[in-house]
Amino acid sequence: MRAVFCRTYGGPEVVSMEDAPKPEAGPGEILIRVMASTVSAADRRIRSRDVPTGFALPMRLVFGWSRPKKPILGTDLAGIVEAIGPGVTRFSPGDAVIANVGAALGCHAEYRVLPEKAAIVKKPETLSFEEAAALVFGGTTALFSLRDLLALQPGEHVLVNGAGGAVGSAAVQIAKAMGATVTAVASGGKHNLLRSIGADAFIDYEREAVPGTVPRYDAILDCHGNLGASNSATALTAKGRLGLVVAGLPQYLAMPFTNLISPKKVRAGVVSEKAEDLQSLVALAENGQFRPVIGAVFPLDQARLAHEAVESSHKTGNVVLQLSTD
Ligand SMILES: NC(=O)c1ccc[n+]([C@@H]2O[C@H](COP(=O)([O-])OP(=O)(O)OC[C@H]3O[C@@H](n4cnc5c(N)ncnc54)[C@H](OP(=O)(O)O)[C@@H]3O)[C@@H](O)[C@H]2O)c1
Repeated sequence: MRAVFCRTYGGPEVVSMEDAPKPEAGPGEILIRVMASTVSAADRRIRSRDVPTGFALPMRLVFGWSRPKKPILGTDLAGIVEAIGPGVTRFSPGDAVIANVGAALGCHAEYRVLPEKAAIVKKPETLSFEEAAALVFGGTTALFSLRDLLALQPGEHVLVNGAGGAVGSAAVQIAKAMGATVTAVASGGKHNLLRSIGADAFIDYEREAVPGTVPRYDAILDCHGNLGASNSATALTAKGRLGLVVAGLPQYLAMPFTNLISPKKVRAGVVSEKAEDLQSLVALAENGQFRPVIGAVFPLDQARLAHEAVESSHKTGNVVLQLSTD
């Protein structure tokens, strides 16, 4: 099979296409022909070792000291079950599925074997394979952040910073589905897109100070990582919450102290892979409440270009890698 390898850390130039042995499904495992995956902010962070302050050491311990331990990146996939191993009961050959493998990686390949108990759900016919892959990274992070970190309630007003990216564009739609009023922050060119996916108001961060000084938001979700607790406090209502999708060690260390002295709370965390969350996102997609935003699609042999598109940190929604089109 063909796969995209990242054998050393660095820029998009370290990405190369190679042949690799086709894996086989063992007991309790399924073999998936990968149709689409995304090149995500996580892939960029792992490839380039560009991680939030304080996480360089843990990152190298987990992903490899001098070179990636798992040289095939890719945290999500949409594909078709090609074979099942002994004892598999949840899936059959021919099933179209969506999977979130997270840090286990390995989805930038034509085939991926996964335990049937992994975070895998059936793909609805209403989503293309590209859309299904694009539902995972931003969708699961946005759902976790709005539901678990911010405990967003119907009728609340949430500001989504970095709203034009994979996480932000999912957060705008999921917050609307949760009954919130949404103000989206992005560069000016993303105004129409964000309005079209449901944002009630739009702020161009190049023209206006964000988050501002009027206490109008019950919750702020910072998907870019530049707002900060003290900066956000004046824009939050009395019991407002700030959710940090991007947080360095200093922010994690300061959080208990900030939360002790202020009624305005700061929350951060790392999303984990759960089939129930994928199912919730699929339900939102089937109800017409969540349509993953795709900024660009690249065929497998242009994987390096896909990595270049993610490198800018100004991408629109998701960058999708097409592993197969048959
Ligand atoms: N905690 C977790 O478990 C978790 C999980 C997933 C991702 N993350 C992190 O979340 C972050 C966002 O991920 P993503 O996939 O959404 O990234 P992304 O698709 O690259 O989106 C980031 C967005 O931020 C916008 N942006 C850039 N500069 C900005 C500024 N000064 N102010 C406001 N927005 C700005 C960019 O577009 P414009 O400038 O054009 O508006 C872009 O759309 C990444 O750092 C990722 O590592 C964390």
